Amino acid sequence: MPLDSTPIPDELRGLRIAVLVSGGIAAYKVVDLASALTQAGSEVRVAMTPSATRFVGPPTFQGVTGNPVLTGIWAPVGSPEPHVFLGDWAQLILVAPATANVIGRVAAGRSDDIVTATLLAARCPVVIAPAMNDAMWAKPAVQENVSSLRHRGAAVVEPETGHLASGHQGAGRLASPPAILAAMVHAIRSRYDYAGRRVVVTAGGTREPIDPVRFISNYSSGKMGFALAAAAADRGATVTLITTANHPEHHGVSVQRVDTSAEMLAELRSQLSGAELLFMAAAVGDFRPARTATRKIRREETPSLTLELEPIGDLLATVAGDEALAGVFRIAFAAEDSELDKKGVEKMKRKGVQGIVANDISRRDIGFGSDYNAGVLLFADGSRFELEKATKREMSDRILDLVLPHLKKR
Ligand SMILES: Cc1cc2nc3c(=O)[nH]c(=O)nc-3n(C[C@H](O)[C@H](O)[C@H](O)COP(=O)(O)O)c2cc1C
Repeated sequence: MPLDSTPIPDELRGLRIAVLVSGGIAAYKVVDLASALTQAGSEVRVAMTPSATRFVGPPTFQGVTGNPVLTGIWAPVGSPEPHVFLGDWAQLILVAPATANVIGRVAAGRSDDIVTATLLAARCPVVIAPAMNDAMWAKPAVQENVSSLRHRGAAVVEPETGHLASGHQGAGRLASPPAILAAMVHAIRSRYDYAGRRVVVTAGGTREPIDPVRFISNYSSGKMGFALAAAAADRGATVTLITTANHPEHHGVSVQRVDTSAEMLAELRSQLSGAELLFMAAAVGDFRPARTATRKIRREETPSLTLELEPIGDLLATVAGDEALAGVFRIAFAAEDSELDKKGVEKMKRKGVQGIVANDISRRDIGFGSDYNAGVLLFADGSRFELEKATKREMSDRILDLVLPHLKKR
């Protein structure tokens, strides 16, 4: 996608952004990006590895950003210590293109040129956009380096698949400007205090089929679970959202769509391994039709219809014995119309969870379908926190703030 049709997101305007360029052919594409960011009102400063300067001349970057370009740790830049100057200055760092070589050097903690030194001295979020030949990208050495950078909190924008400068087709093209910009926005919004943690969220009302066209469900919109998943992802968690609902997907959230409670249970079981935190925000039905008609039930042929319903077992109780659940900190959600605390505590015990968010569905201004919520967060250790009325996203961040001290330290 050409950059001139890609608007620069508001979050990036007015920011101090360091763009670190290493020696790959895609360096020419980053000139456009640096120019667009500057034109949108960000202050952009560029640093280049020696190899990068063989692909694009520093005066080109200087021309589009209006700032001198750092090409070495000895070059004067108005600071007595050029190697830490940009790391101190930047509010966001983009490494693009990131060569296999620079990724390896950063992963190894080296600081042998201005790009790696800047990254080692960085205090802000870092976005890395690799670009290289497909065979290089696929190598375990590169993948391990990438995963270690991710683990330390860097956001890596996956390269795209397509035509490569080497003449091959494959994964390795620099990600598109919208993908890079989305990752930069995501990095800025993030505080990364959930980096390296795996979080599973369930959301939405389950649907239990009566026949191929009808189902029994409930009023849960799934918005709370989507908001929680987005907040956890923005804070650096690896998030899987198991849901029946269809809201816009959020950068960094892996969405697994399901319909019935049985599908949700199966997906939950397959996702729990390695998870550290589970939010059961889905409204799982309590009953389902004992039999599902294989063909549509026709009104003309059915003067009256009585559905026999069977109970659906509690999902958490069903997985309680699973080994994968043992180390998972579990937060359930309870929609109550009265006595939030009392019913919340009972439910927490019954479900064997470490915390519960009880919200009041008798209030018209919050809850089902609304963008707002309010309630109380109770922990099994007896602590209790009021969750004032707020957007579901704000409430999610508050819940994540309160849950974090309960998770294992990293
Ligand atoms: C024409 C040419 C194109 C290259 N393109 C890439 C590339 O896209 N990605 C990459 O990782 N390395 C690429 N390389 C190799 C790097 O330039 C080389 O590994 C260099 O040491 C990288 O240094 P740097 O990481 O300090 O920039 C290319 C080399 C040449 C000569």
